[in-house]
Order: sequence, then C-alpha cells, then structure tokens
Amino acid sequence: MSSYITKKTPGDTSWFVQDRFGMFIHFGLYAMPARNEWIMTWEKMSQEHYQRYFDNFNPDLFDAKQWAKAAKDAGMKYAVLTAKHHDGFCLYDSKYTDFKITNTPFGRDLVKEYVEAFRAEGLKVGLYYSLLDWHHPDFVIDDRHPMRDLPEAVEMNKSRDMKKYAQYMRDQVSELLTNYGDISILWFDFTYNTVADPVKYPYFAGKTKNDWESEKLIELARTLRPGIIIDNRSGIEQDLATPEQNQPEQWPRHKQTGELLVWEACQTFSGSWGYFRDEMSWKSPKMLVEMLCKTVSIGGNLLMNVGPCARGYLDKRAVSALGAFGEWMKYNSRSIYGCTMAEPEFKAPTGTVLTQSEDGKRLYIHLLSYPFYSCVMANMAGKVKYAQFLHDGSEVLFSEGKPADMIGDHYLDMEGPVYFRLPTVQPDSLVPVIEVFLK
Ligand code: GLC
Repeated sequence: MSSYITKKTPGDTSWFVQDRFGMFIHFGLYAMPARNEWIMTWEKMSQEHYQRYFDNFNPDLFDAKQWAKAAKDAGMKYAVLTAKHHDGFCLYDSKYTDFKITNTPFGRDLVKEYVEAFRAEGLKVGLYYSLLDWHHPDFVIDDRHPMRDLPEAVEMNKSRDMKKYAQYMRDQVSELLTNYGDISILWFDFTYNTVADPVKYPYFAGKTKNDWESEKLIELARTLRPGIIIDNRSGIEQDLATPEQNQPEQWPRHKQTGELLVWEACQTFSGSWGYFRDEMSWKSPKMLVEMLCKTVSIGGNLLMNVGPCARGYLDKRAVSALGAFGEWMKYNSRSIYGCTMAEPEFKAPTGTVLTQSEDGKRLYIHLLSYPFYSCVMANMAGKVKYAQFLHDGSEVLFSEGKPADMIGDHYLDMEGPVYFRLPTVQPDSLVPVIEVFLK
C-alpha cells in the first residue's frame, strides 16, 4: 500500500485518484471568433456585438459520440464540460435564462447529448460552471468585465444585485445536478478577492466567496449529489486543488497544515482553452505524454483540454495531439492508472520520473530522456525480481553492481546500485517505461 495519505475530502475521490486522466472540454459561442474564450472581455464587446455569435451558432458537425470516443481512445477515464463559461452562455436548456443553446439555430441541449455519450463509453462525467457571468444583468461589473470602461459602469452597478445572481447560480446548478443523471465532478471557476488593476479601477472590487454565496452553493451540490467532487475555486476548499497551465515540481500541500492534497493539473494543447484558430504554440506529442507521467509521479491527475471548433468537431491538430496520448496509453497505461508517487526509498535516476502501483508491487521508471547503455538506480540491490519494457513486455536485463561487460567506472560510488541494461537505440515509444517487479 502506498504510504501517502492525502487530506480528507468531503467528496468521494477514491475513483478519481485511480483514474488519473480526464478530458476538459471548453465549448461555447467563443469557438466562433476563435481567438480565446475570454475574447468578449479582451475586446470589450457589447452584448449586442456578442449576439452575432449567438444568432449564428450552429455546430452542425457536433457528435457527442465522437467526442466521447476521442476521449476514450486517448486513455481518458472522465470528462468535464463547460456547461456555462464566463460569457454566461449555457450549453443546456435552462429554465432560468434565454441565453442558452436551445435558443440558437443549433437548438439542441448539448449537455444532455454529452452526458449520454460519455456514459455510454464508460466515462465518468463532470461539469464546469463559471462563477463569472458577463451576460447576467445582476452580475456586478468589475475590471474583468467587458463593460468595465463604459462611463456609466459605476452607475449601472448601483442597480445590480449579486444576491439575485447568487440565487440564479443555485437555480442553475440545481438543474444541472438534477436533470442530467449522475454528475461526478463539479468545477466552479473562479474567485478573485481583489481587482487585477486597482490603480486603473479603484472604484471596482473583486469577487469573493461571499459574492457567490459559496457555502450555500456547495451545500446545495452536496445535498443533490453527496459524493460529488468539487474544485477549490469557489473560495472554499473542497476536494480538489487545480494548478492550471503549470506543472508543480512537488506534490501540492495544504498551505496551513502541510497535508498532501488531492490535485489535478489542467492543461491546454496550445495555450487557450476555447478554440483558437491561429494559435501556433501547440505542445509536442512528447511534451504532452511527459506531462501526464510527471503529474502522476507526484500524485496528481491530468485534465487535458480540448476546444472543439465552431462546427462542433475536434480539428486535426486536436485529434493528432489526442492520438499521441492514445498511442502511448494503449501500451503504457499500467504505469498511470492506479499509480501514484513512488515511495520515498526510490530515487528517480537523472532524466526519469517514477510511479508506483497502489499495492506497491510494481515500480515504473519513465525514461523521459533516453540514457545510453543503462539506467542505474541507487538503493535498489536486493529489491528487484524482474524487469521489462512496459510497451512490449520485453525483458530488461539487470544486475546488482556493475555489469561484466560495462566499460568505465560510472556510478561506482553509488549505494546498492541496480543497472538496467538498455538497448542503444530507443524503442519506438515516446517515453519508454521500465516496469520493475519488486520483491
Ligand atoms: C481560467 C480561465 C478559464 C478557463 C479555466 C480553466 O480560470 O478563466 O478561461 O476555463 O481557467 O482552468
């Protein structure tokens, strides 16, 4: 059994830490301008201007089954879809707004099709619900809002009532957790206690958990779905720490108590979450697979984002990036599912990261930077029963102490070394993994 114990969570994270790999889906009107999901506020678009996307929204090539299959083929076990993003647009048929997908030319409830298709593939389904809302008339304008620079913004705020907005959120979350079957994860996004630019906007405030009435929101979610996993972005700690667009170097800990946290990195393929046609910063296949290995090697999950295009499908770049995961996971998922950070007695050799199965019996050495001749690990003598490459099950010879045919004096001062003998040419795998059967 792994010796790592995480801070107790209110929801049920037991399946989550086994599954390790999920798909984030950012889809909405912003797929049409195709230049980031924040475009409405970056370009300070008025409601009237943004309406052109609503009026023309028709992802005619959307097929939830294809999204679900893409996730499954990539090795993902769960998904989280943006039911509502910051622009306030809802991908489902809500009673409480007209700004919803069923009123666009598309006319269908996309959340419904999503949950059905993903469940049919055996994936767990989650929903993302934005706390920000640039459409709702009671949402108080702040310096992240598209109307921030209108001369009448401060005046407009006088009649805006966050209490009404908080009630609207509860009504909507209640719909989402009642009408769509078992929802396993709920993502609230996000809380900002201060304005981003207090010099330019001294008359605006940030938004805190009190503005969202987060206690009530969470209580409602827990009443409707007791075991649900909720992220930490509503301003109240729940189940999940969610570092975004960066990879922690160490397993994240609770700031006050120092306890290890259940955590999930969320990452994009190219920088934006929503579809961005002209973005050129797509991560390489190797970098993507490495991210997954590194995440699990420090006890985390990876939630990898796709931003389907305005016609509703995953474009070639996304399909090929998912394919890199799929190809690797097909043969190496054993080092990911049900695995966590290796016990402290195991020190990763240079250029590698380790994971270990939950029962402690197998250790996985991920060769991020393929070494010449051998991979040598200290303090391993007497611990190894057998070793093989994970992708093809071919034996990896090993010896305790320097192998007879090894030239040079490398590693001679190392304690209890085990030399795993490697072929000179890297096997055809983005990140080869040595699977070590421990005694
Ligand atoms: C940020 C962004 C948002 C994105 C989210 C994903 O909070 O505001 O666009 O949905 O991160 O983690």
